[in-house]
Amino acid sequence: MAKVLVLPGDGIGQEIVAEAVKVLSALKKEGAIALEMDTGLLGGCAVDAAGDPYPEETRRKAREADAVLLGAVGGPKWDNLPRPQRPERGLLGIRKDLNLFANLRPAVVYPQLANASTLKAEVVAGLDILIVRELTGDIYFGEPRGIEKRSINGKEERVGLNTMVYSESEIRRIAKVAFEATRKRSKKLCSVDKMNVLETTQLWRDVVIETAKEYPDVALSHMLVDNAAMQLVRQPKQFDVVVTGNMFGDILSDEASMLTGSIGMLPSASLDENGKGMYEPIHGSAPDIAGKNLANPLATILSTAMMLRYSLQYETAARRIEAAVSRVLDDGLRTADIWEEGMKKIGTREMGDAVVAALA
Ligand code: IPM
Ligand code: MG
Repeated sequence: MAKVLVLPGDGIGQEIVAEAVKVLSALKKEGAIALEMDTGLLGGCAVDAAGDPYPEETRRKAREADAVLLGAVGGPKWDNLPRPQRPERGLLGIRKDLNLFANLRPAVVYPQLANASTLKAEVVAGLDILIVRELTGDIYFGEPRGIEKRSINGKEERVGLNTMVYSESEIRRIAKVAFEATRKRSKKLCSVDKMNVLETTQLWRDVVIETAKEYPDVALSHMLVDNAAMQLVRQPKQFDVVVTGNMFGDILSDEASMLTGSIGMLPSASLDENGKGMYEPIHGSAPDIAGKNLANPLATILSTAMMLRYSLQYETAARRIEAAVSRVLDDGLRTADIWEEGMKKIGTREMGDAVVAALA
């Protein structure tokens, strides 16, 4: 039976994951899916309990699992810890350890939430883009790195150092994921780089162009990252699939998520080469609203749909979850983050219950 490791993490993580588990349990109970769930610690809660944001026990369970469902990690409580103990290190550690190099971040505007964006409704209505972000390379992991003392003009100074590095094989494998994903959509792929300045991304562009030869049916374009950041707010619907490196993808995916106006709605998948994956909402741990039954669990619930689709081969159940979320929105139910006049404001738990009810 498929094994799912559930890592609620910190802040609102506990609450939103509880609602996602509720949805999975309902599907399990009616026999629509078969899976075993276990839980573990990642992030700040793991630092508190085990002195390590990615403890050995979690590592073992994560390696054994077929998929991981994650809430969110981090919070001000752990902000002053030394870098190796910071909650974010737990997240980066599990991504690297499980080789989750392909991060899929859809940004979809729900018709029911068309007014949630800060952009004009006509600019974003119907928006449906997919950002494919490389997740285990780039300046995030490149060596050498650190803060060291160096002599500059005869004077000793501290120097901060990180290294942007990509190998050909790393670029090729993420490019393939992006081309495959594009094939299933509108067949338009935009690769984002900074080849006018950075050699790393010159190689990125070269390898993406080489890979394109295997996908003659996909229309490939290239864009420099600064222009892409601008085009995303100017005319976001010109994009379908965007593929880019770890750092640019981090920034552009936050930007893309806000085009939808509802960061609380967006799921993500981080996949290895064999379809094993980690699934998480793209928002953070929101410590300011934690424990208040205020958080929107829909991004996490939609992440379970991605998990059923990409790692566990339950396409029908995945669609049922997505349809249930849509139904709940049609019914006017909203958590505080997406509430507007005339809609019914409900809490985290009530939203989870509503999705379960809408599954039927
Ligand atoms: C994300 C986050 C992480 C990242 C942080 C928390 C390490 O911003 O998943 O986008 O930079 O990748
Ligand atoms: Mg980010």
